[in-house]
Amino acid sequence: MERTLSIVKPDGVERGLAGEVIKRFEQAKIRIVAMKMVRLSLDQARKFYAVHRERPFFDSLTRFMSSGPVVVMVLEGENVIHKNRELMGATNYKDALPGTIRHDFARDIEKNIVHGSDGPDTAAAEIAFFFNVLEICSEA
Ligand code: RTP
Ligand code: MG
Repeated sequence: MERTLSIVKPDGVERGLAGEVIKRFEQAKIRIVAMKMVRLSLDQARKFYAVHRERPFFDSLTRFMSSGPVVVMVLEGENVIHKNRELMGATNYKDALPGTIRHDFARDIEKNIVHGSDGPDTAAAEIAFFFNVLEICSEA
């Protein structure tokens, strides 16, 4: 059993795509075990994306991620980290397969609708960044 963190980024919320993302998880039989809307401060966004602090896009990315509310979710199930990454599609929407969230909705490499954890360790850290144990309706 795995858990992963999903974020509908500010562009996704602004464009009214949070419901579409949730629908895709439900249709894929992915269990949502926690969900809330929050607005990150710039400082919080910089902490969340600290692994990217040396990258040229770090300032722009963290400004974007703190520019409006996001919807954060914990997903749970077998192989859910990989399953979520498959539903999201490649980072660059131009490389994303048809039917993925980023292919279908993103038009910018940065404003790409969703975030998903990329491995078990980052998933655990990212979930703990947003949720405490009482907020997770886990069956595990
Ligand atoms: P995420 O962490 O948001 O789920 O996305 P990812 O794993 O597919 O991509 P990652 O390499 O972790 O990059 C994090 C986010 O930074 C923005 N980005 N901008 N301008 C650029 O070249 C560039 N590259 C990445 C995107 O918002 C990406 O999702
Ligand atoms: Mg990433």
